[in-house]
Amino acid sequence: MIIKAIYPGTFDPVTNGHIDLIRRAYRKFEDLTVAVTEKATHKDCIFSAEERADLIIRSLDDLKLPVKVEIFKGLLVHYARDRKAEIIIRGLRQLSDFEFEFAMALLNRRLDSNIETVFLMPNVNYTFLSSRLVREIAGLNGDISGLVHPIVEAEIMKKFKNV
Ligand code: PNS
Repeated sequence: MIIKAIYPGTFDPVTNGHIDLIRRAYRKFEDLTVAVTEKATHKDCIFSAEERADLIIRSLDDLKLPVKVEIFKGLLVHYARDRKAEIIIRGLRQLSDFEFEFAMALLNRRLDSNIETVFLMPNVNYTFLSSRLVREIAGLNGDISGLVHPIVEAEIMKKFKNV
């Protein structure tokens, strides 16, 4: 039986750490959807949901992984239920991620006990990497090559030029 999994996030923007996690998740769950939240409740995004989804699709292009990318609204568990997904994938980079992830996983399980969260660790080279720091470095004219796909690098630079 094929188990459906979703990998949700804000992805503002998608980093090489996210891509590494998508590859790892796809090895275990061949029906994988990357789910981009339309509204990030706790942060302001520099990219719209459509742009964030598009950058994921374009970053995955070279890998030729048949992974779906969708935008979702509202509660994650409602979206997962609608898609008949049983697994939520989340990345754990460091201990500092744990507290938030633990709360979210248990609250999501409380909201829907059929859905389990599976945590994957990225390659150790990406444990320091976050979208927030990529945005900050790019916004201050720093070098983000190697941290994101070159397509993302070009788009983020365009954004900051227009600010
Ligand atoms: O990449 P992020 O910002 O860490 O992803 C967080 C995300 C989008 C997975 C989380 O904020 C989420 O699930 N948002 C949808 C609303 C929801 O279900 N909130 C309740 C979580 S317990």
